[in-house]
Amino acid sequence: MKIKNICCIGAGYVGGPTMAVIALKNPDIKVTIVDINEARIAAWNDTDLSKLPIYEPGLAEIVEKTRGKNLFFSTDVNAAITESEMIFISVNTPTKTYGKGKGMAADLKYVELCARNIAEIATTDKIVVEKSTLPVRTAQAIKSILHNTGNDINFEILSNPEFLAEGTAIDDLLNPDRVLIGGDSEKAIDCLAHVYSSWVAEDKILKTNVWSSELSKLTANAFLAQRVSSINAISELCEHTEANVNEVAKAIGMDSRIGPKFLKASVGFGGSCFQKDILNLVYIARSYNLNEVANYWEQVIIMNDYQKRRFSDQIVRTLYNTVSGKKIGILGWAFKKDTNDTRESAAIYVTDQLLNEQANISVYDPKVSEAKIQTDLNNLNTRPAIENQENVSYNDSAYDALKDTHAVAILTEWDEFKTYDWEKIYAQMKKPAFIFDGRNLLDKSKMNKIGFEYYSIGQ
Ligand code: NAD
Ligand code: UGA
Repeated sequence: MKIKNICCIGAGYVGGPTMAVIALKNPDIKVTIVDINEARIAAWNDTDLSKLPIYEPGLAEIVEKTRGKNLFFSTDVNAAITESEMIFISVNTPTKTYGKGKGMAADLKYVELCARNIAEIATTDKIVVEKSTLPVRTAQAIKSILHNTGNDINFEILSNPEFLAEGTAIDDLLNPDRVLIGGDSEKAIDCLAHVYSSWVAEDKILKTNVWSSELSKLTANAFLAQRVSSINAISELCEHTEANVNEVAKAIGMDSRIGPKFLKASVGFGGSCFQKDILNLVYIARSYNLNEVANYWEQVIIMNDYQKRRFSDQIVRTLYNTVSGKKIGILGWAFKKDTNDTRESAAIYVTDQLLNEQANISVYDPKVSEAKIQTDLNNLNTRPAIENQENVSYNDSAYDALKDTHAVAILTEWDEFKTYDWEKIYAQMKKPAFIFDGRNLLDKSKMNKIGFEYYSIGQ
């Protein structure tokens, strides 16, 4: 079967960029991205490309080329399901906040709703592709829902997890290390492989059984997050031994068996997936009574929480054991540079802890709005929203945000922070002026020369 119409349910950080690239590389395929969130779809359709709901370098250019030609954004989920031969499920799979598995298992209700919707609406055969990150054996549940529709429609279920990282999504999609397709129908796998083969070399398209594919995605994220927690654990040891974590990372990274990537010590990893996927892995392991396996991976999260707490504790300790009434500048709210995504960003937790110590917070981020910052803090439910509003201010200019602060905490590694006039910033701050560089972004000796008391991670 040659695919002519693709539908993607979920116009988020994965659905949007992934389908934009599929449309760009397959001009003969009509790609329709649908979502129940009307505001999000309206933003995707905005003629002003700076208003797209997701910021990713290179994304707006691709949307400009394809939108209205073979890429469409719509809220009409049923029409898109009816029209397509292949349906990607790319909805969110957050950690459950209720019931059995609360705080650990992935909440699959959105995925199940999609499967039920497809089962109800479809009148022709479909290939259903799991693009969302799902616990191993989820395909079984989707299969069961789809195959019990009572009509004669044939559904093939494939797992095709996405490995893009935010901030580099377009480059990751255009030049993937591999594309993974899991399934038991060779025909269906070939159909999907054909879509990718427009730009991905055949030897990079890996075909496995569904369960290996589902588990590989969780495993990849667990291994990546584990590297960050490993180097962060070493960073604290460096601080006690006069070793320098950047030097240690370079030295071990030159071992080709270890490799240089993902060894940047930081204030802790954030993002919508590392924590969620590891918690899910831990939950699955526990559900098979594999307690040693579960405890092993859980430690990656415990270390990450500790690293965030350690960072805010250091700020308080260094500022003479109190930040009460002191103004602290936060540079960067996104969970990493080049994205407007703030989910699980370390900035949220560090700020929350400083607010507990009665600090006044002044934030600047090049891509995150004041409203988003307030929502992120309010979602923690630590204190009444009015208190967050009173004690957290936002400024469109980093220089203004940092005026009269006692300390600056750098929480996202935005490139522009390196280019700032730090002498000017120093002149406008209270003295002694402190920098807590949670990303090891600035040059320690330069900052010391200006007069800052400079603290970083693992040095
Ligand atoms: P997201 O929250 O940005 O987007 C999900 C979208 O799905 C939302 O806009 C929501 O309104 C929509 N949706 C939910 N239920 C729906 C329904 N029944 N019908 C129509 N639309 C519905 O999430 P995301 O970051 O794109 O992640 C999606 C999945 O991809 C998750 O499973 C995630 O783990 C995985 N993933 C994410 C990344 C990433 O970098 N964000 C990378 C790889 C994999
Ligand atoms: C991660 C994976 O890298 C993707 O392959 C995966 O598809 C995605 O999760 C997902 O499943 O959602 P992402 O979270 O977008 O991508 O971004 P990363 O580059 O992995 O960064 C995650 C966090 O780790 C960020 O807060 C980042 O600052 C931090 N990090 C990363 C470090 O602190 N040190 C490093 O060396 C690398």
